[in-house]
Amino acid sequence: MTKKSFRIAVLPGDGIGPEVTEAALQVLEEVSSRFDLEVETRSHPIGWAGVQEAEHPLPAVTRRAVEEVDAVFLGAVGDPRGDDLPPELRPEAGLLELRKTLDCFANLRPARAIPALEEASPLRPERVRGMDFVIVRELSSGLYYGEPRLLDRSGEESFAVNTMRYTEGEIRRVARVGFDTARRRSGRVVSVDKANVLETSRLWREVVSEIAEEYPDVELDHMLVDRAAMELVLQPTEFDVILTENLFGDVLSDEAAALTGSIGLLASASLGQRAGIFEPVHGSAPDLAGRGIANPLAAILSMALLLEHGAKHPEAAAAIEGAVENVLAAGVRSPELARAGERASGTREIADEVTRALEIP
Ligand code: IPM
Ligand code: MN
Repeated sequence: MTKKSFRIAVLPGDGIGPEVTEAALQVLEEVSSRFDLEVETRSHPIGWAGVQEAEHPLPAVTRRAVEEVDAVFLGAVGDPRGDDLPPELRPEAGLLELRKTLDCFANLRPARAIPALEEASPLRPERVRGMDFVIVRELSSGLYYGEPRLLDRSGEESFAVNTMRYTEGEIRRVARVGFDTARRRSGRVVSVDKANVLETSRLWREVVSEIAEEYPDVELDHMLVDRAAMELVLQPTEFDVILTENLFGDVLSDEAAALTGSIGLLASASLGQRAGIFEPVHGSAPDLAGRGIANPLAAILSMALLLEHGAKHPEAAAAIEGAVENVLAAGVRSPELARAGERASGTREIADEVTRALEIP
């Protein structure tokens, strides 16, 4: 009997997306041959690339493809040339539609202090040492999708509306992912909201507390989002799982990325009932695109998350994570991480180093 291969839709996207995707695919090839994994990859356009190829940020071919695969790997989406397009045709709209299409409602963003990079963190080493938490961000609702939404320029004074809307069910399902994640870790959830001002947050707090009763072994605290932003800088090592709604999670995850020393290191997994989406947290960085200097580690680590959560192959994922740590410990630095006097490596060179580190059993 032939082994059924694991099918991945690869969406390189825009800016540095294609470069970091290529690096991640190189690492995937190495790891799949080492672990005897049968993987099938096929690339499709999204974002500005989709607009150029098919006049839509999530072209029909791409939409069909992602519904038929086991996992989606995404590079990055966004290009300033798309800024003046109508909202539904902007590159970012393609990403939001993709998340909606696959109903990826739980976005996991692990943030860990890497010992070799202590000096790169904007925080003092003793403050960031041992930092290891996961942000579980609700990804399918809230302000990103709520109706009505509009920008009205017809009157004397323009106005705009966005709606933050959450149903109990939407909160419940992501809360369970948060508690399950905590169970596999140190067993602590901090649920972040703005319950002193927002009704959605009051419901959020209520539902999360209800779900907590199903998890007596997990400790739950509630924290207001402004305080959470502060605590992340003051005591980042105190967090284990941060559970929060869509926009708060977006903002806090960039802050978390910065604490590790570079946004070029943070990976993410977006999970639902269907294929998951695995993508680096950094954006398309148009200013860096095409120069071969983008840090591919977030993409490579996203490939590790794909192997862990998508292909259910934790050993292959751990091998990649170990190789990345070894490469950093050996002093390999992408340009944004290299300090004065340190040699910087480009995208390809870093991919080669990780690939080589994987060959050593
Ligand atoms: C992210 C990005 C996206 C988001 C953008 C590109 C729409 O910032 O994945 O964090 O806001 O979700
Ligand atoms: Mn973001």
